[in-house]
Amino acid sequence: MMANLPHFIQYQGSKRNLAKHILQFFPKNFNRLVEPFAGTAAISIATSASQTTHSFWLNDLNKPLIELLELSIEKPDEIANFYLELWNEQHTNSVAHYFEVRSKFNQNNDPKLFLYLLARCVKGSVRYNSEGFFNQSPDKRRKGTRPQTMRKNIAGVSSLLKGKCKFTSLDYREVLEQVQECDFIYMDPPYQGVCGNKDSRYLSGINFDDFVLALEKLNRKGCPFAISYDGKLGDKAFGKILPKNLNLERIEIEVGRSSQSTLLGKEETTIESLYLSPNLSNSLMNTKICDFSYIGKKPQQLTLLEKHGEFTASTR
Ligand SMILES: C[S@@+](CC[C@H](N)C(=O)[O-])C[C@H]1O[C@@H](n2cnc3c(N)ncnc32)[C@H](O)[C@@H]1O
Repeated sequence: MMANLPHFIQYQGSKRNLAKHILQFFPKNFNRLVEPFAGTAAISIATSASQTTHSFWLNDLNKPLIELLELSIEKPDEIANFYLELWNEQHTNSVAHYFEVRSKFNQNNDPKLFLYLLARCVKGSVRYNSEGFFNQSPDKRRKGTRPQTMRKNIAGVSSLLKGKCKFTSLDYREVLEQVQECDFIYMDPPYQGVCGNKDSRYLSGINFDDFVLALEKLNRKGCPFAISYDGKLGDKAFGKILPKNLNLERIEIEVGRSSQSTLLGKEETTIESLYLSPNLSNSLMNTKICDFSYIGKKPQQLTLLEKHGEFTASTR
């Protein structure tokens, strides 16, 4: 099931390929999964497939994106039909058609148009100019996901999440104020600085100090949580390491070789961090739900290495 998880669109920063690794560190049972930075909800999709919970709260500051998730999950046929019609309009000049749809979207923020733009733009990467207008260019080599594939993808996601989600478009701090002790929270904020500062209101990263403050509050509340935050590409670190006084367990997951490095003939791999809240790492140790019995023996860090499709763990 996990190998063929359905997805909506290619979304830059999606955790789809990492989901099976990340989920190993989730509690065995919890009432509801809360994703304050849901994006395309890859982790909720995987969690629903694993049947750990049947209740989800999907939040993302990007309102058209959340509206798109809601439509796709709750009314899959309606959005798939709309996509088919829009996709068929491309005819001979598909680039001009993309720009037309883009300017319409920038006037009305219609999530249905957003689906087409995301499926058709370069690298599924959401970019806005300083006035907040979506300004990503079309991928000139392709015409976007074929309508029948899109319909299948949407139906797959919908079958896992229909009727199980709450959808909001709030700042993550408001979500964290409202979560309950019996919720489990997975956070995947945008990396700081990855896209430059002026690039977009959604991708320019959240304020580090505010984030740390929100995590301190969450620790006091006693909610279990996990965060994907910083990482490394070769020797280069991206994102700032979260402070020790939060008492989080930091796990490194080797994601694989970066395609950019391979092109340049370098042997660089990408490593992403996953931080576990203190109560989560304690409960993992106590219940031994996974094999990583040495979680918590600081200052050692657990590194997960994926080799030839196999998954092994080692301390370093
Ligand atoms: C790295 S992406 C999440 C990707 C997601 N895990 C997936 O698999 O598709 C980060 C998301 O955070 C959202 N975001 C940025 N700032 C936010 C904020 N202050 N509150 C809530 N969401 C925010 C962005 O719109 C973006 O979709």
